[in-house]
Amino acid sequence: MDSEFCDALKKKFDQIVIFGAGFDSRAERFDHLNKSTKIFELDAPITQQEKLKAFSKKKINVLENLIFVSINFNKESLSKKLIEAGFETSRKSMFLMEEVTIYLSSTAIDSTFSFIRHFSVKGSLVIFDYVNAGVLRKENKYHGEKDIFKTVSRAGETWTFALEEGEIKSFLGHYGFSLKDHSNALQLEKKYFRNPEGKILGKINGTHNIAIGSRRSSTALRYQGQIVITSPAMCGILPIGATRRTFS
Ligand SMILES: C[S@@+](CC[C@H](N)C(=O)[O-])C[C@H]1O[C@@H](n2cnc3c(N)ncnc32)[C@H](O)[C@@H]1O
Repeated sequence: MDSEFCDALKKKFDQIVIFGAGFDSRAERFDHLNKSTKIFELDAPITQQEKLKAFSKKKINVLENLIFVSINFNKESLSKKLIEAGFETSRKSMFLMEEVTIYLSSTAIDSTFSFIRHFSVKGSLVIFDYVNAGVLRKENKYHGEKDIFKTVSRAGETWTFALEEGEIKSFLGHYGFSLKDHSNALQLEKKYFRNPEGKILGKINGTHNIAIGSRRSSTALRYQGQIVITSPAMCGILPIGATRRTFS
């Protein structure tokens, strides 16, 4: 994800939107590459307050181009909040979600990706990680899977969303994106965890994948230059209801 983030900065994407940013530090770590990209971090007010406290403790100034958007996804309109914060709907954007899709209900996944679809112009990118559906079925097929639910429940969390192997293309297609790149854990190990002699230096949990989608064309409705969506249900992430669905 770091390399895609850097690539977007180098290519001068207008905007990067980070959903559920938490303590994401990409804006600071890669600021030297940022010429003009606005970065919007979306998260719950309490998390952002903690982050700002940590910044202040470490004497880190908030960057000029970094915009914190406090939101409760379950209750507030994503589109309203983002536009009020200065997001421009007609500009090329990257939408990034790390460790977020797994916690969303299928309804919330649908509203989030519908939102991204309606707020993306051609060439915009979405990058996110997701879990293989077999993991939720506890099939124990992947490295690191065995005790993963103990860790998840110890943290008081529940995993709700996953995709079948091979389903990513139709999932993205459903939301107007084509699959630009996709890596499972083995591919990530080969790409990032090899020494110059080609030896794999570390194992990654096989449960997760990273996908990148590229927006095929913009079909969004426009009103006075800004893209608008009409259904409030598309504007926010809605609460739980974790039935799976097929995308075609
Ligand atoms: C698992 S963390 C991921 C954080 C970060 N992306 C990372 O990879 O380290 C999920 C994030 O989603 C945020 N979040 C969860 N529910 C939320 C809600 N209803 N509204 C806004 N943010 C929420 C949490 O505050 C948290 O920062």
